[in-house]
This record gives sequence, C-alpha cells and structure tokens, in this order.
Amino acid sequence: MTNENQLLKKIISHCKEYGYIFPSSEIYDGLSATYDYGPYGVELKNNIKQYWWKSMVQLNENIVGLDSAIFMHSNTWKASGHVDAFNDPLIDNKDSKKRYRADILIDEFISKIEEKIEKDCTKASKRYGKTFDKEKFISTNKRILERYKKIKYIQDSINLFISTKKFDKIKTLIEELKIKCPVSGTCNWTDVRQFNLMFKTKVGATEQGASDLYLRPETAQGIFVNFLNVQKTTRMKIPFGIAQIGKAFRNEIIARQFIFRMREFEQMEMQFFVQPGSEMKWYEYWKNSRMNWHNSLNMGEKNYRFHEHENLAHYANAALDIEFKYPFGFKELEGIHSRTDFDLKAHQELSTKKIQYFDPTINESYVPYVIETSIGLDRMFLSVLCHSFTEEKLLHGESRVVLKIPPVLAPLKAAILPLTKKDGMPEKAREIMAQLQYNFNCVYEEKDSIGKRYRRQDAIGTPFCITIDHQTIEDNTVTIRERDSMLQNRISIEKLNSKIMKAVSINNYLC
Ligand code: GAP
Repeated sequence: MTNENQLLKKIISHCKEYGYIFPSSEIYDGLSATYDYGPYGVELKNNIKQYWWKSMVQLNENIVGLDSAIFMHSNTWKASGHVDAFNDPLIDNKDSKKRYRADILIDEFISKIEEKIEKDCTKASKRYGKTFDKEKFISTNKRILERYKKIKYIQDSINLFISTKKFDKIKTLIEELKIKCPVSGTCNWTDVRQFNLMFKTKVGATEQGASDLYLRPETAQGIFVNFLNVQKTTRMKIPFGIAQIGKAFRNEIIARQFIFRMREFEQMEMQFFVQPGSEMKWYEYWKNSRMNWHNSLNMGEKNYRFHEHENLAHYANAALDIEFKYPFGFKELEGIHSRTDFDLKAHQELSTKKIQYFDPTINESYVPYVIETSIGLDRMFLSVLCHSFTEEKLLHGESRVVLKIPPVLAPLKAAILPLTKKDGMPEKAREIMAQLQYNFNCVYEEKDSIGKRYRRQDAIGTPFCITIDHQTIEDNTVTIRERDSMLQNRISIEKLNSKIMKAVSINNYLC
C-alpha cells in the first residue's frame, strides 16, 4: 500500500475513533460510500458552513441567502439538461464483473505516469545533490519529455472523445493504453455506455397517479427557479448573488476515497447574476476571490491549484476547478463556472414564464448571465482533515496524533480540566466552563490523568486546554496549553475569554 493510501486509512480510522465520521447503518454492515457525521464531525461541518456563509452572504452586501426544497418539479431537470445530459461513461470488466467510469480509469492511468515523473525527479535529486535543478531537469530530460508527451496525447484524446460522445473511441483508447482492471488484472472490457446520475423516484399514493421525482443533483436549480422571487423581494440590483447550502444526490458509479465522492453530499453554491458581456470579468473576480478564501485558512498555498476545464459541461462557456492536494493527489474541491444564460433561458422557455431583469443603468430588459461558485462541503471537510492530521514524535520515545485544525473551524475551542476531583477544583472548573461556554464550544473533563486528557484533546483537535490546579484556588490563575506548540502559560481567569477569542474569531481570518 502506498504511503498516501496508508495516510487516508489512518484518517478514516481516526475519524471513527474520535467521533468525527461513522460508516452509515454500521450495525447492518454499512451502506457503501455513505457516512454519518458524529458529534465532532457535525461541529466541524457547521463551522465550515458558517465560515462560508459569513464570507459569502453576510460580508457581501450584494449576496443573499436561500434554502430551497430538495424536491422540485420534474420539469426543472428537463429544462436544466440533466435528464438528457447528466451522464457518466461506464465500462465493465467482463472477468471481474466490476464497473468503472471510463474517464476515471484514464485519469488514474495519467496519475501513474505523473507518479513516475516524480520518482525520476527524486532519483535525480539524490544523484545530483545540492546542484539539482528540478525545473531544468523536467524541461530537458528525454524520458520525462516523452512521458509528458504521452500525457498530453491521452488528455487531448479523452477530451475530444467525451465532448463529441465518441464512446467506441474511448474503449479503443483504454485498450490501446492496455489499462487493466485492478481486480481481475485483465483488459477484457465491454463497450462504453452512458449512465444518468440522477436518482429517480415517484411522488403520489398510487402507481397511476404518481409522477416522476428526481433527487436534486445540484442545489443551483433551486436558485435559478427563484431568481425573480429573490430579486423582487430583496430589491437587489445586478450584479448580485444568491447563495445556498444543501444536500445533493448523485448515483455515482464508483463512490470512493472516503467522503470525497459520495452519493449523498452537501454543496455550498452561489449563483452571481451579471449583465451579458460582463461575465468574463466576474469569472476572473470569483476565481481569485475563492482562492483567497481558501488561503485565508492558512492550510498552505502550495496545497491548492487551478485546473482549467477543456471539457465544458452542457451549460458552461468557461469553467475551472480549485484543486486541493489530498493524499491521493490534486483533486477537485470547488468548481467555478460561467453558466451563461443557459439555465434561466431554459426555465423561461419550458415554464413559459418570463424570467428577465430590467436594468435601469442601460434601460433594457435581459436574461442575466451567471457565474457560479460551487464547493462540496464534504470535500472541504476532507481537505481540512488531511491538512490537520499529524503524527508527532515527542521526547522520551513518546508520540502523539494531533489534528491541527484551523482554530476557527475546530469543533471544540477549549477543554476545561480540573487537575484532580477534589479540593474545590471541579467547582472552580465548572465556574470557568459556565463563563466560557456562551462564546465557545467547550468540554469539561475530569476523568484520567492530565497527560491522557491532553492527548485526547490533541486527537480531537481542541486548540486550548485549561487546567485548574491548587494555585487556581489561591490566585484565580490557570494553565492554558496550546495544542500545536504544547506550550503552557499561566494566565488569570479573566483573560481567558480574550485569549481564546483572538485565536478562534472568524474576524481574524476573513478581515
Ligand atoms: N452546480 C454545479 C455543480 O454541481 P459540480 O462540479 O458537478 O458542479 C460542484 O459539483 C462541487 O460539488 C464539486 O466541486 C465537489 O466539491 C462537489 N461534489 C460533486 N460531486 C460530489 C460527490 N459525488 N461527492 C462529494 N462531493 C461532490
């Protein structure tokens, strides 16, 4: 197993052990790729939502919120194009009977070539030592240039075949590259077929009277169909945005990599309505604004990168992803799409209701263009965990696992720990708890030795441990221990609030 996979495995078991994420329906042996968020998981999730909502809605005068229903009229999905075009290309291995997404099989093949390039670089850097210049090596080494040429050929081919729906050619490409099924190890593939990702069910009491219902595959359509309701009731003027957070559902063929690809997940989406012709300016604006938002959490600028789409979704005239460096490589975390007037126009046509905006600045009515920012909450959650999970060797052969979660997102902000259960310490600790818990999510713990309690809070990712000891009873001071440095300082109880606030307040991150 690669180090990266080992790391993901460790994160998954850590999440289970410390109440972040449990496999769903576990007592019935679980349901594949479906997870439940535990007590600390739900806090982290809520903090991420709050961080997004604050910056998107409350700190932008021209963005308002919405919470539309998951159930929508089935015509919504006809107009949006999802009934006809929301498909993945599928391929089966005839020997293992396993099903794969053809484009992902090819993506993984490319990742393997990229891994080989990295290995070549590591070997060369060992050989040349300090004089090694990676950029020069990559741009001149014959073998590496060959590898890049191959990657380009594969990428250009798959992009072309997907956009022109040449599924027979995708199969030929898989065969040409000799891509093997990871289970059977053979290249015995079926043809590539299209598979619609929407979950379909029925609404109504009887079979005859029932009508089709789809579980929404994106939250965006709830925003589009409410465009005029929101614009008129809030008196917003273009450019303005509508944001919402909610569940989305996709019948992913291969849901995997823990919470990275699930069938039930949450999105945080914002549709920004602009004058036709100004969309590229706003596309650039949101591209940079969203990258700055990610960087505001200080999880390492090198862990993010842009990836421009060559293959555009049916509604877009430009699109890019913000990718995060997960243990299994750089993968999509957020999408920024220029959706033109595709959705509003399609709803206008099918519903026969006029969806237009009268723009007083140019004295004209038009169907607005849209820039969308769409981030998966679960993917954001996973990025925070992957960044935070740290195994540290300490003095005297000891070690610890610590989640270095950005304090603003940490589920618990402080643990209140009386040194012993006697001499008035628990009572004093309860007083401190009562004083802090209105501002911060805190926990009170008196079980186990203080060392064990520190380790447990490190593993949960609590930024501060506050210890109440004999001296506290005498002079109202406590020891405050910082999670990442493990440094301990003595401070007066009255300074606790401002000390914690300084580290966890959203203002310090978003200003
Ligand atoms: N409204 C546009 C839209 O839905 P998308 O790129 O298909 O665009 C947006 O999805 C984001 O939703 C992705 O960047 C990803 O973070 C998240 N997402 C998509 N499919 C997912 C899945 N199966 N599991 C978890 N998150 C997913």
